[in-house]
This record gives sequence, C-alpha cells and structure tokens, in this order.
Amino acid sequence: MIVTIDGPAGTGKSTVARTLADRLGFEFLNTGAMYRAVAYACRQQDLDLADDRAVADVASTLEILFVQNRLILNGEDVTDAIRCQQITQSASIVAANPAVRRRLVELQRLVGRDTNLVTEGRDQGTTVFPKAECKFFLTASAEERARRRQRELEEKGELISLAELIEQQELRDRRDENRACSPLQPASDALLIDTTEMSLAEVASYLELLVQRASLTLNRR
Ligand code: DC
Repeated sequence: MIVTIDGPAGTGKSTVARTLADRLGFEFLNTGAMYRAVAYACRQQDLDLADDRAVADVASTLEILFVQNRLILNGEDVTDAIRCQQITQSASIVAANPAVRRRLVELQRLVGRDTNLVTEGRDQGTTVFPKAECKFFLTASAEERARRRQRELEEKGELISLAELIEQQELRDRRDENRACSPLQPASDALLIDTTEMSLAEVASYLELLVQRASLTLNRR
C-alpha cells in the first residue's frame, strides 16, 4: 500500500508522515530531502543553479541513499547540512529543473516498489504514485507554517524573524506552485486537511485511522 502526503512547507508533512509510517510499520520516504541533496551537491561544486544542464548532470550521477532515515549522499551523511536556509532556497530552484525531477521520480518509484510506503513531498499523489491507495494534501495558514519553521530553526540556534520567514516562504510557494513540471497541487482524489488548528499528533492519529479504514476496505475486495 502507498500513502502519499503532499502540501507546502510547514504543514507538518514530514513529522506526520514519519509518525504515521512508524505506527503502521511502513517504509518512510522524505522526497524534499532528495531535492535538498541535489541542491547541496550543486552548492558544493559552486554551480550556477540557473544552469539547467550542469545541475541535471550533477543530479544524474549522485548516489542518494536513506539509511535509518539518514540521507547519505555519495557516502556522506548530509541529513543535518541540508536543513539550513541556503539549501532550503536552493532546493526550490533545482526542483523546477525537469531533468532533476525525472531522475528523482525514478528513484522514488524504485523505493516504492513492492513495499508499504508513506511518502511525502509535493507531487507524490499527482505524478510519482498516481495510483496510491491513500492520498492526503495538508495545508495550514501562512503564518502558522512560518511559525513552525521558526521553531524548527530556533531549536538549531538559527534566529530569523517571522516576517522574513513569511517572505521566503511566499517566494518558495510561488516557485513550487508555478513551475511547469509537476507543480505543487493536490491530486484530484486527495483528501485536503487544514492543520492550522491541529497538533501534529492529532493529524497523525487522524490519518492513521483513515489509512486503517482504507486498508480494511481494500482487504474486503
Ligand atoms: O519539503 P522540503 O522543504 O524539504 O522540500 C524542499 C524543496 O523541494 C521545496 O522547495 C519543494 C521541493 N520538492 C518538490 O518540488 N517535490 C517534492 N516531491 C519534494 C520537494
């Protein structure tokens, strides 16, 4: 069974998807981390991110592995390094590159082959796993999303004002929603859930219930 959780940044996707996968005993895939890894590799090589061909070349040779939820890029554990603000902005630029998307979609489908998976990103329900049995699309108000991001950064000692985070978030949202290839949008058969007023524990429990119900229905067929 495949469960897709898509939506913009700050809606709690990663935390919810990880919790849900743990509870269900499913594999977990964080596809945003893969775009971040490509951005990280490009930055390491001082590439111009607007140079589509050079960025695509880098993406085509990378080895990206998840080992116990750590992201290993060409043998290096970059899990923490890819969470900084610079990589956050760069990732949304490389994510608009069609060749990068093709490569990562291929890798994501390999991860989902013959397994039970909870996967989160922007295009999991629309492009990568259009036949997924359960599809969710999380939303939340812009302010709440920025506040969650601010807390996440604070925990790592990065202090950024809410206004600045909202501005950066808008820029990324615009890029993710307006790119030609797999823009951020809900699949027509995804369930939309507004998480603004919910704790992430509540969201995870709600999704768990829905997935269990869907799985019972599938088993009865
Ligand atoms: O979820 P995140 O913030 O870690 O994602 C990083 C960037 O990658 C973000 O700008 C959106 C992009 N992304 C994407 O285009 N498609 C995905 N499936 C996952 C992330």
